[in-house]
This record gives sequence, structure tokens and C-alpha cells, in this order.
Amino acid sequence: MAKAKKSIFFCQNCGHEESKWLGQCPMCKEWNTFVEEKASPVKAGAPSVKLRKEVKAVVLSSVTADEDERVRTGIAELDRVLGGGIVEGSLVLVGGDPGIGKSTLLLQVCQKLSDREKKILYISGEESLKQIKMRANRVGNFSDSLYLLCETNLDMIRGVIEEQKPDMVVIDSIQTMYDETVSSAPGSVSQVRESTNVFMQLAKGLGITIFIVGHVTKEGTVAGPRVLEHMVDTVLYFEGDRHASYRILRGVKNRFGSTNEIGVFEMCESGLSEVENPSEFMLNGRPACASGSVVACAIEGTRPMLLEIQALVCKSNFGMPRRTAAGLDYNRVNLLMAVLEKRLGLPLSGYDAYVNIAGGIRMNEPATDLGIVVSIVSSYKNKPVSEDTIVFGEVGLSGEVRAVTMPEQRVAEAKKLGFQTCIIPEVSVKAVGKIDGIEIVGVRTVNQAMNLL
Ligand code: TYD
Ligand code: MG
Repeated sequence: MAKAKKSIFFCQNCGHEESKWLGQCPMCKEWNTFVEEKASPVKAGAPSVKLRKEVKAVVLSSVTADEDERVRTGIAELDRVLGGGIVEGSLVLVGGDPGIGKSTLLLQVCQKLSDREKKILYISGEESLKQIKMRANRVGNFSDSLYLLCETNLDMIRGVIEEQKPDMVVIDSIQTMYDETVSSAPGSVSQVRESTNVFMQLAKGLGITIFIVGHVTKEGTVAGPRVLEHMVDTVLYFEGDRHASYRILRGVKNRFGSTNEIGVFEMCESGLSEVENPSEFMLNGRPACASGSVVACAIEGTRPMLLEIQALVCKSNFGMPRRTAAGLDYNRVNLLMAVLEKRLGLPLSGYDAYVNIAGGIRMNEPATDLGIVVSIVSSYKNKPVSEDTIVFGEVGLSGEVRAVTMPEQRVAEAKKLGFQTCIIPEVSVKAVGKIDGIEIVGVRTVNQAMNLL
């Protein structure tokens, strides 16, 4: 007897499967993300794309792989995040909130590559040809090797890709693609997975680089990009404050490079432009002689970045002091305030504290600890820190200032931007050595740092 078609429940956030509906996903702990989908029958037979005819194992040393097989996009910030350029035949997922600029970024990549006679196919399931043209007009001139296609049917798309054999394909977005053989709606976990699978086969089989756009959604109506993170080669997330103009491209997974690099962009009238010197950008509009404001230095990947930490400490009117941390780890701020209370004897438990990183950027590196501590004390005592001073160092529970990685690069960056004094962990002073034009002061404890400032 034929069984009734079984249904499965998928978490739209992380793709976890259950046989029954649950309120909370046991994997990602998100609430109300389960959606019922019909289990699609397992397709028997050959894979949908003919890969190689004969199957043969080869010796590792006979495989050639040169660094120059990477294709540079010409957008340096993106190349850095990708680990030096696009790898042929790779599948790259670009995730981010709707409206953050994913389509714009990829259109600009298309522009750069089509200028170099690469054949590009831009497939949009969201916008009409007219809408893409309007965006393209803002971005600039395009050469004739860029082809557009508005289609969501996976079979048709596969046909076009196999026929045209472009060098690069952009799929905007994966949540709009659908396979007729899968019964659930476009954007569901099964559809998104099946589509990604097809693009994976196309990328590997034909040696085409495919960029996939994935929207991050808060409400669980469409499956988020996390569902396919494990299937693709590279995962990039595009983030930023909607109200600020800068955008950060962060690598989360990369089979061909490191993942701790970031790319900084600014959204302008004519698309995204690269921000080559993020420190300068972040320190723009810094108040002069204001208490509670201090410049710290964090490292993102291999690049030092100066940022302004601001704190506002004021007397609490209630028994429960309010604390907020924007761009910083809330618990870390609480911990550092406890260190100040105990080691410096400041009665902070009776004070509200609001700490943030100016510019809306997010940074969780321990090297910003000393900056947080200094800004809180500066605001508490209402004494401004000298404007041409930067501080960095990790703060331990007993109030000691500990070493951080790459102190030389941090000091060099500070010098580049015209700072005169660096307050750094005592143990790092030797590593940095003497540098002309900038004074380096080592401190062993938080107390010492406070006496200096
Ligand atoms: P878009 O790339 O459509 O976002 P996504 O594909 O991630 O949903 O970018 C949309 C936003 O970017 C939109 O709000 C307008 C802004 N924008 C500019 O400010 N300047 C430009 O030149 C372009 C093309 C977009
Ligand atoms: Mg878009």
C-alpha cells in the first residue's frame, strides 16, 4: 500500500529537521522558526549535470594549482576577503539583510570583470531588466560581455548556463529560485538546498564561478543563508548599519583563504566605493577635548583599525544601575566595570554607564579592553584624555594589562594617523621597539595607566 506523503518540519533559520513541529529549534535555539514541508522523493539515477565521463584517481603532485589562477576582481576590499581573488569554479554565498547592497556589490563585480572580456551572466529572480538597468546606470558603464536573465525556474537557468558557458554567474537571490520537482514553495529549505545543489554541480562541472545572494531574514518565512553555509565554498556576509553609509564585508567561511579579513565599503550615489583607510573613516567627527572619549586600536584580520570608544557615566537614580554597550560585548563591559570597582575602588555600582563604539561598528577584540576602561574612568572623573593618545591592551581580572597580538602594526597605524602617544602593555614594549615620532609608554596595570592619563 502506498504511504501518504510524509512531511518534515524544517527550521528556517538553520535548516534543522524534525519529524514534528517544535516551538524552539533545538539546534540554533530560535523560536517559532519551524515550517512544514513535504518530503520530496529521492531522485534516482544520474546526477543532473554530466560531470566527467571516466572516473579516475590522480596523484596529488600531478595536480597543478597556482596562486595566479585566481582572478582579481579589481575591487581590492573584496579580493582581500576572498583571499586574493576569485577561484575558478567556486561557489560563493553573499548573505546580508535586504537593502544592504548585495546586488549593488555583485553588479560592480560584474562591471569590473566584463571590462576584462570575461563573459558574465547575471540572473535575477527579484528585479526586472529595467530595474537592473536603472541600477547599472548609477554604477557606471558596462561592456557588452555582461548578459542579463530574469528567470526563477531552475531547469531553464541550468539550460542557459550550459549553453552559454559564461566565466561567472550571479544568482540574485537563491530564495527566489525553484525546482519544479520539489513540491514546497520557493524560499523553503528544500527548494533553497536543491537549487544550491544544482549550482554546485554546475560550478564544479563546468568550472564556472557562481555567486549566490542570500537574504538574511528575521521572520522565518524564507530560509536564511545559514541553511546552505555548509554546501558552498565561501560564505561572505555583508553587514552595516542601515543609517550609516559604510558597509562591512566579512568572511565567515572560506575554503581558499583565511576568514578573519574584512572589507570596508561606503555606499555612495554611484554604488559602493572602497574605503582604503577605515581608521580615518571611523575617527571622522571625533569630539575635541570631550571626557569619556578615547581612541583604541583593534585588529581585523591583518589590518589594524583605530576606533573611538565613548562612555557616558552618570549617577543612577534607582537602585539598579543601567548599562548599555553598543558595538561591544555587554558582558565584557560589565566585567571591566567590576574590575574598576574592585581594583581602583571606584563606586561604579551607583552609576549608569553607556559605552559604545562611534560609527556603529561592532568589535569584540580583547585589545579594546584598556580603551573601554580608560573611557569609563575618563567619563566618571569628567577629565578628557589627551586627543593625540591611543590605548590598547587586554585587561585581566586582577587589573593587569596583558599582551595583545601584533602591537607593531597597531603602533604604526597610530603613527600614520598622527598620534603622538601610545599606551600599550608593558610586555609588548620590547616587541615594538623604538619608533621615531611617537612616544610609547608601557603599563603593567590599569592603575598605572590611569596615573599616566
Ligand atoms: P541593493 O544592492 O539593492 O541591496 P540588496 O540587494 O542587498 O537588497 O542596495 C539597495 C540600497 O542601496 C538602496 O537602499 C539604495 C542604495 N544605493 C545607493 O545608495 N547608491 C547606489 O548607487 C545604489 C545602486 C544603491
Ligand atoms: Mg538585491
